[in-house]
Amino acid sequence: MSVPTERSIHFDLNGRQVSLHTDEQRTLLWVLRTDFALTGTKYGCGQGSCGACTVIVDGKAVRSCLTSLKDVAGRQVRTIEGLAHNGELHPLQQAFIDHGAFQCGFCTSGMILSAETLLRETPNPSPEAIVSHLERNLCRCGAHQRIVAAVQSAARRSSGQS
Ligand code: FES
Ligand code: FES
Repeated sequence: MSVPTERSIHFDLNGRQVSLHTDEQRTLLWVLRTDFALTGTKYGCGQGSCGACTVIVDGKAVRSCLTSLKDVAGRQVRTIEGLAHNGELHPLQQAFIDHGAFQCGFCTSGMILSAETLLRETPNPSPEAIVSHLERNLCRCGAHQRIVAAVQSAARRSSGQS
């Protein structure tokens, strides 16, 4: 059993500098949910297998259930709550709504944040590339086809094709 190591940790959370004094070994997932009340980040498996807890750290999709608080010190963390801009939904959020790309919604924030990192690197991905990128984000409701359609639609919208 590891000994708690308390220290002050500072990082950028959805564009705002935050700091807290706590055990640096706590997982980012529970810090987001309990200390910052950002409950859009979901606890699924707690073992890195489902992707429900996905957030973006310095532009990369990471599993917050496997990320220690100390690992985000000085870095930029983005959650689903930080995706809308000036009161407007992100194109991915709007496309998920338009396509009904969810049922229970438990996987949705992880899917959207993971897809966001794909579209930033590959603005017009093929359906195969979308499937491949989201392969490790599980959806128990079977909304996969609508999710892929939503990501394609968001890509078109972002590049001004629709
Ligand atoms: Fe983190 Fe499942 S809760 S991958
Ligand atoms: Fe329910 Fe994906 S919408 S798990």
